[in-house]
Amino acid sequence: MSQTQKPLILTGAKPSGELTLGNYLGAIKNWAVMLEEYECFFPIVDLHAITVRYVPADLRRWTYQCLAQYIACGLDPARSHIFLQSHVTGHAELSWVLSCLTPVGDLHRMTQFKEKSARPGASVNAGLLYYPVLMAADILLYNADRVPVGEDQKQHLELARNLAQRFNQTYSETFKVPEPFIGKTGGRIMSLQDPSKKMSKSEDNPGEAVLLLDPPEVIRKKILSAVTDSGKEVRRSDDKPGISNLLTIFSAVTGRPIEKIEDEFAGAGYGTFKKALADAVIAELEPVQERYRGIIEDKAYMHGVLKQGVDVAQARAYKTLSKVFRKAGFVDRIR
Ligand code: TRP
Repeated sequence: MSQTQKPLILTGAKPSGELTLGNYLGAIKNWAVMLEEYECFFPIVDLHAITVRYVPADLRRWTYQCLAQYIACGLDPARSHIFLQSHVTGHAELSWVLSCLTPVGDLHRMTQFKEKSARPGASVNAGLLYYPVLMAADILLYNADRVPVGEDQKQHLELARNLAQRFNQTYSETFKVPEPFIGKTGGRIMSLQDPSKKMSKSEDNPGEAVLLLDPPEVIRKKILSAVTDSGKEVRRSDDKPGISNLLTIFSAVTGRPIEKIEDEFAGAGYGTFKKALADAVIAELEPVQERYRGIIEDKAYMHGVLKQGVDVAQARAYKTLSKVFRKAGFVDRIR
């Protein structure tokens, strides 16, 4: 099958900090197995990263880190398109056209906007409000068939679907309406300290998340001090979110079904189970970290990957953008 016949998958990540074990198990590890079946676009969405206060030097460092971590986690740049959103002319332009089809009220009603703008000290800038339109542009610019997204991004994907339909109705058939992609494994990885919320990096409580680049002794400490529930049986259950989350992690890391893991640790208690889990996570992340160290040192290699990625992405983006501009009534560019 030629590359262009494969369905197109696109998903983005913001370079706004270090990746967590949750990002790896719940997302990146699953993307890495899609490279055969799909044509994969993995923009690192740096334009999305500036809607909250940030330090430019941090953004640049995180962007390189994100790229190196992607590759270290198994996103093979020879079989996918990894690039920076800001390198491609088209994301911001398409988002402008789409924003003119977006009722402002829809954006005000977005859960993530409401949450982020309600945070103490938040700067409620227009970019924060328009964020989902830019995301829609990322997806529609490449006519993605499927978009792997977490629970928290479903509403944004729904907007992208609406905008595709609205553009098609307003002008004429142009965009595919993208479908969500629900991964087979991994699921949602929750915080080690509060299993009712998603695992994410937290400055106040570093114990909430294992970071991809944490040294082994830190990983061990975080896992051994993860909250568990009353009782001592290693068994998944809805009223035992702590141990259930650890079982999900064990299963995602080892590829073994949860029932098998429960059997193995029947009667063993939480302590023994956590030690085994720490060993498994460390063993999984060690080779990733080793590859990461090689890549992050090698700027020339990373630049080569970005160049290769942007060349393909830009060619596609131009095609879509010129079609969109023509349909919108803009005069063709004079060449
Ligand atoms: N908004 C997404 C997030 O915060 C990141 C993102 C930007 C994205 N553009 C995208 C995800 C396109 C999927 C497709 O996680």
